[in-house]
Parts: sequence; C-alpha cells; structure tokens
Amino acid sequence: MEVLIACRNLSKDYESGAGVVRALREIDLEIQQGEFVAIVGTSGSGKSTLMNILGCLDRPTRGAYELAGFDIGARSSDARAILRNRLIGFIFQGFNLLPRTTALENVELPLVYRGAGARERRKQALEALAAVGLAERVHHTPNQLSGGQQQRVAIARALVTGPPMLLADEPTGNLDTRTSLEVLALLQRLNRERGITIVLVTHEHDIAACASRVVTFRDGRIVSDVREPSVDAAAELEKLPPPEASVADDGAGAADPAAAERQRLGGPVPRRLYAMMALGGALGLALGVAYCRAVLDVVSTAIPIAFGFVLEAIAAVRFARKHMGRPLTSDQRARVSLAYTLGVALVLGPLTALGWMPWSKPLLDRLDELSGSRLALALGAGVLGLATVALARYLVLALVAPLVAPAPRPKKKVA
Ligand SMILES: Nc1ncnc2c1ncn2[C@@H]1O[C@H](COP(=O)(O)OP(=O)(O)OP(=O)(O)O)[C@@H](O)[C@H]1O
Ligand SMILES: [Mg+2]
Repeated sequence: MEVLIACRNLSKDYESGAGVVRALREIDLEIQQGEFVAIVGTSGSGKSTLMNILGCLDRPTRGAYELAGFDIGARSSDARAILRNRLIGFIFQGFNLLPRTTALENVELPLVYRGAGARERRKQALEALAAVGLAERVHHTPNQLSGGQQQRVAIARALVTGPPMLLADEPTGNLDTRTSLEVLALLQRLNRERGITIVLVTHEHDIAACASRVVTFRDGRIVSDVREPSVDAAAELEKLPPPEASVADDGAGAADPAAAERQRLGGPVPRRLYAMMALGGALGLALGVAYCRAVLDVVSTAIPIAFGFVLEAIAAVRFARKHMGRPLTSDQRARVSLAYTLGVALVLGPLTALGWMPWSKPLLDRLDELSGSRLALALGAGVLGLATVALARYLVLALVAPLVAPAPRPKKKVA
C-alpha cells in the first residue's frame, strides 16, 4: 500500500490576543491509500486544525506535510489549490451547499472551477448523484431535501472530481442516528468499492466504530492510534427499528425561522413541470372537444377549456409529487399559475397577430374597428382577462391537489 498522507513533527500555533495557542504539537501521522480513519478527541483538541492542514486549506507552523508524495509546505498557495482540487474532496458538518441552487448545479460546481464543458459537467454530476442514491432528486434545491439527502449531495460534490481522498469534519454532526448510519454506510461503500481514502472527524463512538482505524487527540497531541475491525454501518442500520413516517422535507431547520420561511414558500419550480402542464392541457382540450361532440352533441369552447385546466392541474400536481418530493406550496402554485398563463399568452399572442389561429380574423377585424380610447379599454380588458385566467388556474390547482395527491397523514411515533 502506498502512503497518501505523511505528517512529520507537525505543529500549528495560532497567535491570538491572549498569547499563542498551540493547536497541534509535533504530530507524526501516516495514512495509507485506502484507509478509513476516524479522528476523535475532546473539543479544542486540534482535530479541525489537522483537517485544515491535511486539506491544504492551511499550512503548519513547523514540520512537514506530504500528500501523495508532494511536499505541501514547499508549494505556493496556487499549487496547493491545484493539489486540493485534484486530490481532495471535502465534506462539512453544515453541508455547505449553495441555497436556491439545485443538487445538480451544486455538484457541478467543482467541475466549473476546473473549466470542464457543460455537457461533461452534467454527465459527471449525474453519475456522482446516482452513486449517492439521489438520481431522483437532482433538480431539488437544498431546502427541498432532508438533512441526510443534503449531506449526500455534499458527498456527491466531493466525489465528482474523482479524488483519491475524502476529508470529512463531523459529517454527521447535524444528523440523527439513522441518517448518520446511512451516510456512514455510503462512505464505507465508497471506501471498499472505489478504494477512496477517508479521514473523518467525529464526536460519536458509534460513528468512530465504523472506521478501521481510530486516532485520538488530546491537547494537540495524538494519544492513541488503534486499528480494529470496523462495524458495518449497513448492518447496524438493519438493526434499527423501522423509520418513522418520513418528515424528511422539513430536514434542517424547524428551529431556524429563515429555513421555515423557505420551507413555506418552496423553491423554484423545474421547467419540466410547465412542459407536463402543457401536455396535460392539450390532452384536456382534445378530450373536452371529443366529449362535447360524442357525448353532449354540442359545440362549446368552455367545456374543452375546463377539461384543459383540470388536466393541466393534475399533470402539475402529479409532477410535483413525483419529482419534487412534496406537494406544491401555495406560493409555488401562484407562481406556476402566473408564469404559465403569461407563457401561454406569449405563445398565442404572436400566433394570433400573425393570423394563424382560428380566432385571429374576427378578433383582428374587431380591433381594427376600435378607436383610440376604446382600444385602450380593450387592452385593459385583455390584461384583466389574463389575471382572471391565472387566478382560475391557481384555484383549480388548489382544488385538484388534495384529490390527486393527498398529504400523508401523520403516523403515530414508534416508541
Ligand atoms: N483561527 C484560530 N485562531 C486562534 N485559535 C484557534 C483558531 N482555530 C482554532 N484555534 C484554537 O486551536 C485549538 C484547536 O481548535 P480546533 O478547532 O482544531 O479543535 P477541534 O478539535 O476541532 O474542536 P471541536 O471538536 O470543538 O471542533 C482550540 O484551542 C482553538 O481555540
Ligand atoms: Mg472542530
């Protein structure tokens, strides 16, 4: 096995107002390629300081650090940044994802810094998200994901550049037991199947037990370094009682008012939802026309339009349910109704003006006859009409939602 990390006599001092803090004192540590190492120790013992140095984010005050044979101390900060980008994936306690940015875009980001083309970025990001089991959630923004899912996005982001090593500082610090074990099972799989070296800081014994080597710090020194058979996180997961009714979507922060507000509003709506609505609408119109002809034997425009509205709404609600993980919030319904109505107007307006629609001729003739003030009035009525249509869409969406995709009833807690 090759040595990936070699620290010799490594020390880190921090200058502060009250004097010098000796965060790391003469550390000697070697980590081989393919190891899964847990770093444990009391708060302030120097764990994060070590991780920052291992991750080339910071330099030691004294001593040497070699990463994959490169002497990091001797490199310029640009060279360190390149090595970091090539060799290391970071995972943090707070996930550090960009808000209002989809999982896919978050995962693409390290490749943007690398200057990869858009197609290549997308392909690799989708692969990384599939590897962490999030193929179905790639268009979700962080506030539409549970804590565990957000951490998996962060792992995909760390993986996407294909680094030989992952550094994780308390990756499960914000997660409950089950979700922590899920994240650990994923890390173990990456370690076993891809040979990725993992160095992970944790406060929890159960998490440290999943590593094959545990290094304990106290006051900036290594006080023990033991290799032992690791606990299999996937097997531990099996032993837990079945999960409670999933309230995954309120993940990170019921306590955080900003998060609660984001939660209430819901994130941006994927464009595919509008495409599904258009399909549903077209199908509804066709069904409506057929129904009028074959069953009612009348000529009507209102009935097909009503059919169109309902099928459109069903399409939107089903899409949200399936691909967005939760029903549309009322804010999202309002945005969807308005944007969709304006979109339809933007498509139909020019087609009408060009004389391509069946109602073009009578409408244009009529407008031609109108004088200045009447024309303005007609335009005003048109805008009002659009607003009414948007409102009608909003109401149909609200009415259809509970029929098509009822909200899950809260289940009793498992003791
Ligand atoms: N930027 C800094 N400036 C001054 N002192 C610092 C700085 N960063 C860390 N320290 C000090 O260095 C020591 C080690 O801190 P470090 O963050 O590495 O601890 P830790 O083991 O990660 O703790 P925790 O478990 O609480 O995260 C602490 O005494 C801390 O106060
Ligand atoms: Mg720390």
